[in-house]
Amino acid sequence: MTKPAYSLSLLASFALVVAACGGAPEPAPAVPDVPAEPTQPAPETPAAPATPAPEASPQGDGAASAPAAAAPVTVEVPIEARTNSKLKGSASFTEVDGGVKVTVQVSGAPKGKIAVHVHETGDCSAPDAKSAGAHYNPENHQHGLPDASARHLGDLGNIEVKADGTGSHEIVAKGASLKQGAPNSFLGRAIIVHEKQDDGGQPSGNAGGRIGCGVIQSK
Ligand code: CU
Ligand code: ZN
Repeated sequence: MTKPAYSLSLLASFALVVAACGGAPEPAPAVPDVPAEPTQPAPETPAAPATPAPEASPQGDGAASAPAAAAPVTVEVPIEARTNSKLKGSASFTEVDGGVKVTVQVSGAPKGKIAVHVHETGDCSAPDAKSAGAHYNPENHQHGLPDASARHLGDLGNIEVKADGTGSHEIVAKGASLKQGAPNSFLGRAIIVHEKQDDGGQPSGNAGGRIGCGVIQSK
């Protein structure tokens, strides 16, 4: 017996062409938004500086509005007789460096030394001037003459009166001022002239009666 031979020709011929697979094409990059056109405003031209006004010429009533110069503050005070005296007088108070300069003039006064003080209350209404109160003493010191290391702020010493009854005295009250409301201010107080000499004794110099009085106030 003969078996048919099967010739199986298996031709498998594969041509495998594997196409190289290119990667998928990359997506086109997104087109970025086109930036908007810059819209900067045009810089403004700075305004031209103002032309300075022409100098104003001083007008007639300029004194009222002109700033006060560094003129010293001065207060003039008439001194009136008290305690049945014949005294007449005046005092001038001027702020100076470190205090108040006081000048006093009297006439009709007893010859010799007579005391002068700033008293605490600006009230001369009493016939004996006791309405002016005690010596002005804001720092609670003892009484003293002007050369004492500690004294009342109102202790101004003595006026030297000549035989004709006139006299004058000048002193700087160190530490005093003429500033309204200040704790060391002579404003609103009284200047008192006494019948006798201030001897520096306690409590107020043994100066006797009050023969002159003036209220220290600005006009
Ligand atoms: Cu006095
Ligand atoms: Zn005193």
